[in-house]
Amino acid sequence: MTRTGLRAVEEWPDLVPYLLAGSGQGHNLATGMPLVHPPVAELVRSAFRRAVEDASFTRRVSLYHGVLGDPELRERLARLYGEHYALPVTAEEVLITPGAQAAFHAVSALAAARGRRVVFFAPEYPGYRTHPEVRYDMLLPEVVEQGDREFRYLPPAGRLDPDVGAVIVSRPANPSGNVIGDAALAALAGECASVGALLVVDNAYGPPIPGLAYRDMGLPWGDNVVCVQSFSKGALAGERLGFVLAPAPVVRELGELQARVATFPPQLVQFAAAILLRDGRYVELCGGELRDAYQERHRLVRDRLAAGLTVPYRVHAVDGGQFAWVRLPGLAGRTAELFFTLLDRGVLVAPAAPFYLPHLHDDPHARQCVRIGVTAPAEAIIAGLDIFTEVVNEHG
Ligand SMILES: Cc1ncc(COP(=O)(O)O)c(C=O)c1O
Repeated sequence: MTRTGLRAVEEWPDLVPYLLAGSGQGHNLATGMPLVHPPVAELVRSAFRRAVEDASFTRRVSLYHGVLGDPELRERLARLYGEHYALPVTAEEVLITPGAQAAFHAVSALAAARGRRVVFFAPEYPGYRTHPEVRYDMLLPEVVEQGDREFRYLPPAGRLDPDVGAVIVSRPANPSGNVIGDAALAALAGECASVGALLVVDNAYGPPIPGLAYRDMGLPWGDNVVCVQSFSKGALAGERLGFVLAPAPVVRELGELQARVATFPPQLVQFAAAILLRDGRYVELCGGELRDAYQERHRLVRDRLAAGLTVPYRVHAVDGGQFAWVRLPGLAGRTAELFFTLLDRGVLVAPAAPFYLPHLHDDPHARQCVRIGVTAPAEAIIAGLDIFTEVVNEHG
């Protein structure tokens, strides 16, 4: 492996696992693909059928529409999230976006316009770093060990200043699976408010859509809080549909930024989503069978690691999402190097470094962690982890 090759891996954007997935070779445990659960996929198919057959079809797909999103969908989402989290959400506080990713870019554009920086807590999803004019900064979390096998990241307190325009946290987190506790998140929202920053909570894996949290969680609400949601893990990743819950002035500001790029999100998928929410079946499946299927995969990964690894390791508490985040404290070298050894053996895992900004690449967790996706087929997980544990046992 060359130094350039190592640097390229350490600076992966999160797109790389998707691109690698296309090769179809080996056991891809770096994947960020959603799990396809046929009952949810079928429900989506029938919602699209109804959308296409509806009398409003031609009007919807042939004309231009409102910038903030389909009124029925905004109303249904406000009611669903308001009821689920006991929050006073109204339709004016919902912005529909062409995927959550679009909302993150709009948040960065907002920070750029205000000349303020965007802060993350390591490790964090690289997909938020989209804007060439934004200064992105990253702070290390507190690490708490739990029992013999687990650890947990806690957001650092008292580290923000008035130069910060937004703090973005994934919750459930990619890569760690962490769900920051409600009290810690409320404290963070308060700290953000005290310096005039937005707290942006990426709930792309959280309930009720798609429902992939394995720990009880609330959502924060307030003048400076922006919650970003996604339909991607609810069988709609290909159709690009997300939404933001935020105070109406923030919704309008983000909507204006979005309008400059996309004018408004596509109509048919918004209508299909509104149809999906007309009864409780979709949400019930997301929080039920779909969540169970993800949890089953998490158990498979845990069991395989426990059975195979003879060297010390710890995993981050699996509070939600689709990744296991594993620390190998005795590893000789970095997981970015281990990546190449595993690649030679036909196994892909995501090394830790891309989830850290470069100035933190020497942090022990940036050197010693790997992200293992749980959505590969079960056979690939079993075969891939057998090779992974064998290789790791040789390297410490
Ligand atoms: C933490 C996190 N947020 C957001 C997204 C992307 O959501 P969307 O597909 O709606 O853009 C992903 C994608 O995997 C993710 O891992």
